[in-house]
Amino acid sequence: MFRPGKRYDVSSDTTSRLKCRGKTLLQYLGTSTFSEYTVVNEVAVAKIPDSAPLDKVCLLGCGVATGYGAVINTAKVQPGSTCAVFGLGGVGLAAVMGCQAAGASRIIAVDINKDKFPKAKVFGATDFVNPKDHDKPISQVLAEMTNGGVDFSFECVGSVEVMRGALESCIKGWGVSVLTGYNDSQDMSTRCLQLLAGRTWKGSLFGGYKSVESVPKLVWEYMEGKLQLDEFVTLTLPLDRINEAFDLMINREGIRTVLHLSAQ
Ligand SMILES: NC(=O)c1ccc[n+]([C@@H]2O[C@H](COP(=O)([O-])OP(=O)(O)OC[C@H]3O[C@@H](n4cnc5c(N)ncnc54)[C@H](O)[C@@H]3O)[C@@H](O)[C@H]2O)c1
Repeated sequence: MFRPGKRYDVSSDTTSRLKCRGKTLLQYLGTSTFSEYTVVNEVAVAKIPDSAPLDKVCLLGCGVATGYGAVINTAKVQPGSTCAVFGLGGVGLAAVMGCQAAGASRIIAVDINKDKFPKAKVFGATDFVNPKDHDKPISQVLAEMTNGGVDFSFECVGSVEVMRGALESCIKGWGVSVLTGYNDSQDMSTRCLQLLAGRTWKGSLFGGYKSVESVPKLVWEYMEGKLQLDEFVTLTLPLDRINEAFDLMINREGIRTVLHLSAQ
C-alpha cells in the first residue's frame, strides 16, 4: 500500500540493488521497468505464459488493471447499473471496459477532451458528457440525465474537484463513488450531507488486484479474447525515443505508448 513518508524508489529494505558506472540508481515505484534486467520485491512478480505478447500484456502492470479492477473488485458493479466514468485516459477507458463486462446498462463517459469519446465508445460507453459544454455543476448534469444520479461513479483523473463531482453525481441512498486518480498535494472535500445521504466514497489501488495471483489470470483473459488490450496502444516507439513518449503522456495525447528495445 502507498504510505506517506515511505519511499517507492528503493527496495523494501530501503537499499537499491542497481548501479550504473558505480552510481546507485533509484527504482521508480520499486520496479525500474525501462531496463532489461531489474530486481524487484517478490510481490511485484507475475509468471505469465511465454506466448503472451509482452507489448500488450505490459498494460496489465498498472493502468488497465487499475481501472478494470476498480469496477470489478472495488465497486462490484451489478448488471443493469448506471455508471459514470470521469477521465478517459488508460485508467478511465479500462473502467469503461469493466463497466461493460459487469453488465452495466448505461455507461456515461465524462471528459473535458471530446477527442477521447470515440475510443470510449469502442470500450462500451453509451453516453458522452463534456463538462465544458455545461454551465452548471457536472453532478447536476448527471442527476438530470439519470433521474437522480448514477449507481456507480469512477474518478480516473487525479483532481480533487473531479473526485467531489464524481461523488456528488452518485444517487442518494446507495450510490458508490470509487477514486483511482492520484493526488498527493491537495485534500479532498465534500459536505457531510453528501455521505449522510447514503453515498459511499471508496478508493482503489491497482484495482484491488494482487499481482502474483491476479496478473496471470488477467493475461489469460486477454489471450482468450475476454479482455481488450490492443485498443489502448496508440503508439509504439523505440526506447531511444522515450522522451517523446513522456511528452505525449504529459500532454495527455494518445492513450498508451509502448516502448520497444529497438524499432519494430
Ligand atoms: N489507483 C491506482 O492504483 C492508479 C494506477 C495508475 C494510475 N493512477 C492514477 O489514475 C489517474 C489517471 O491515469 P491515466 O493514465 O488514465 O491518466 P491520463 O492523463 O491518460 O487521463 C486523464 C484523463 O482525464 C481527463 N480530464 C482532465 N481533467 C478532467 C476533468 N476536469 N473532468 C473530466 N476529465 C478530465 C483528461 O482529458 C484525460 O483524458 C492518474 O491520476 C494516475 O496517477 C492510479
